[in-house]
Amino acid sequence: MTPKKALFYVLLALASLTMVQSLRAQKHDVDSEGHHWWQHAVFYEVYPRSFADSNNDGIGDLRGITSRMAYLQDLGVDAIWLTPCFPSPQVDFGYDVSDYQDIDPMYGTLADFDQMVREGKRRDVRIIMDFVLNHTSDQHKWFLDSKSSKTSTHRNWYIWRDGQSKGQAPNNWTSNFGGSAWKFDPTTNQYYYHFFYAEQPDLNWRNPAVEKAMYDTTRWWYKRGVAGFRLDAVGTMFEDPDLRDNPVLPGTNALGDPEQERKYNTEFPEVHDALRDLRTIADEYGAVLIGETVTDNIDALKRYYGDHGNELQMPMNFMFTYVNKLSAPEFRKQIAAADASGGWPVYVLSNHDAVRHYNRYGNGKDNDQIAKLMATLYLTLRGTPVMYYGEEIGMENNDPKRREDVQDPVGRIGWPKDIGRDGERTPMQWDGSTNAGFSETKPWLPVPPSHKTHNVEAESKDPNSILQRYKRLLSLRKTNPALREGKYVVLNETDSNVLSYLRIYERQVVLIALNMSAEPQKATFDLSPQHLSGRTIKSLLDASGASIHGQEVSLEPFGTLVAEVSK
Ligand code: GLC
Ligand code: CA
Repeated sequence: MTPKKALFYVLLALASLTMVQSLRAQKHDVDSEGHHWWQHAVFYEVYPRSFADSNNDGIGDLRGITSRMAYLQDLGVDAIWLTPCFPSPQVDFGYDVSDYQDIDPMYGTLADFDQMVREGKRRDVRIIMDFVLNHTSDQHKWFLDSKSSKTSTHRNWYIWRDGQSKGQAPNNWTSNFGGSAWKFDPTTNQYYYHFFYAEQPDLNWRNPAVEKAMYDTTRWWYKRGVAGFRLDAVGTMFEDPDLRDNPVLPGTNALGDPEQERKYNTEFPEVHDALRDLRTIADEYGAVLIGETVTDNIDALKRYYGDHGNELQMPMNFMFTYVNKLSAPEFRKQIAAADASGGWPVYVLSNHDAVRHYNRYGNGKDNDQIAKLMATLYLTLRGTPVMYYGEEIGMENNDPKRREDVQDPVGRIGWPKDIGRDGERTPMQWDGSTNAGFSETKPWLPVPPSHKTHNVEAESKDPNSILQRYKRLLSLRKTNPALREGKYVVLNETDSNVLSYLRIYERQVVLIALNMSAEPQKATFDLSPQHLSGRTIKSLLDASGASIHGQEVSLEPFGTLVAEVSK
């Protein structure tokens, strides 16, 4: 071997050793509690169309996000989850992907993406991508080939079946977005299956070639620097191979279809095999998997962690999004269930598919106070919160008033019973100018009049704003071990107005009391079961609407207390 060649091999060996070591370091990067980075992190969902528009075409883009990375760092979030920004005909605003390994020109280029990742790294903000597993766009080259003939290479990548008889779909399954879940395609005289829009044909996950292509896609993005994925609609990946009819339930839904139990096209056990595989790959890169796990009870949610914690690290708990009124007993119940589930809880209050919680809990008079209360609740729980852009400034839904203004197709189909999801997807409110500082052009969705008062610029200057409360809470979480690591202990379980609990870690104890009523309330706490004297209670948040008199706490309407308690 020439000396040059020998040197080359030595360098190669060294390089691979450092690579293996850094991957190991990522894998075992846990604290003394065995907690990983994502358990200390606060995630923040960005809807790219609506965050910041750098080229003034009315639609947000990646350069826009990059330009606001300093804001995200200053706010105190650790990771952003971007809803899909891959090439897409935008029928479902990106959830109809036509190429998994590129960026839609409307959002920028792969170079813009790399730049965003670099800027995120510089500012300690990790990037999580959205992975649409269940379906592609009908314009994806796989589907175009699939539909071209019964013998095409990709035919079996989707779910094709003959009709039952002329004009009759293979079974009674309905689409989540209205009508039959089957669409007839005259090219080959068969139907294809779509759980969502007809433009979103379902992939056939029973085909190993599909599996491989999808797994490779995650590797490709990990290598590009993404810190994990939010997996879209995981419960819908598999369906009954025999296509049995779903049981029909009484009544019709908002889209006018007969109600049915989705027994034969959701929540198949095979989903868990795929999740275990995806997790194995994620672990190689120290990445996190968040799941859009739509379940209506904790037991169903629990399964998504995997029997040995080997599936999703963060299945999202949507139970809070179903609570439609401010109710201490209701939240207490949901928290208890999540906390006892055995897995690390993941709390969600708002997202791009649900009415913003500013509207859900607001009473029209004390909305800002209530927004601060809700922030104080879910940023002080044991678990990882996933925020939705704009909630930190008290953004409200701006719902369309007329059918012809609706952009989200499901809102047109379901109008007026289901008005779609435009209302919660309006542009981020950066300042009080005409387009809220989002764009110099008319944005794709209108900003509400409230942007004049509820915007980043104004709230940065106001010490009592919702934004300042978020910032204080987020920095408290980072620095206070009890809030970060501590166990959750419920207090005063029969109080129907004040939700109270402790977070306890080693010698540190934090008491949280939240008045969920419009009346002033008093609360006292018996801390003897925790062997605490409770002699001194010292507030950690100022101007939060609570006063402490010895061991009694007075709370203003919707007032909150976050306090340190002496041992
Ligand atoms: C998920 C997304 C939603 C989308 C659907 C279909 O539920 O959150 O926005 O419409 O999947 O991809
Ligand atoms: Ca743009």
